[in-house]
Amino acid sequence: MRELEDKIRTFGKALNEDVLLVDMFLNHQVDCELMDHIGDEFARLFADAGITRVATVEASGIAPALMCALKMRVPLLVLKKSASAIMNENVLQTEVFSFTKQKSYLLTMKQEYMLPGDRVLLIDDFLANGEAALGASRLIEQAGGIVSGIGIVISKSFQPGLKRLREAGYNVKALAEIAGLQKDHIEFVPEG
Ligand code: G4P
Repeated sequence: MRELEDKIRTFGKALNEDVLLVDMFLNHQVDCELMDHIGDEFARLFADAGITRVATVEASGIAPALMCALKMRVPLLVLKKSASAIMNENVLQTEVFSFTKQKSYLLTMKQEYMLPGDRVLLIDDFLANGEAALGASRLIEQAGGIVSGIGIVISKSFQPGLKRLREAGYNVKALAEIAGLQKDHIEFVPEG
């Protein structure tokens, strides 16, 4: 997606070989007009997938997922990274390990927000090792949903997530693919 790549080129910052900072427009300050266009693009890419629900993992996935769900006119389900005290009935959980943070969390959802056979489009802001997306897919499937697409805003394609998800059989589309990072240099995978 050209507009997103231009934003990354202009405002993104490669902190080191692993981390791309995009907090100026994506996950701290949020460029709502860009999010609107990201929602349009996901809706276009998955228009033929028969999507009945969008899902994401809190917190930074919510903005693009909300725009996408709005455009597709389907409900949005936000998977939680921890269960609250009031969330104790018919709850499903799966453990996810974050390599970036070097710790695990329990991805959690209420069974009632997934209908049997729901065709789910999973949206997230970043794809690195794929643990969050694989965990979210596990949970959605456990709840009776079908993961019918995975939409990623930025895939760091030099890390294993994209390959792992595709090898697991998921239809994954990324709006921007990063081929490599070096301090103050961002290399994209050419579109196409
Ligand atoms: P994985 O799911 O693909 O295995 O990724 P990992 O656990 O390693 O990533 C964990 C968190 O780090 C995620 O946010 C993800 O968005 C974020 N992240 C990964 N790589 C980058 C990067 O290069 N730049 C930035 N800015 N973030 C990155 P999170 O902890 O779930 O945070 P949030 O969604 O609550 O904000």
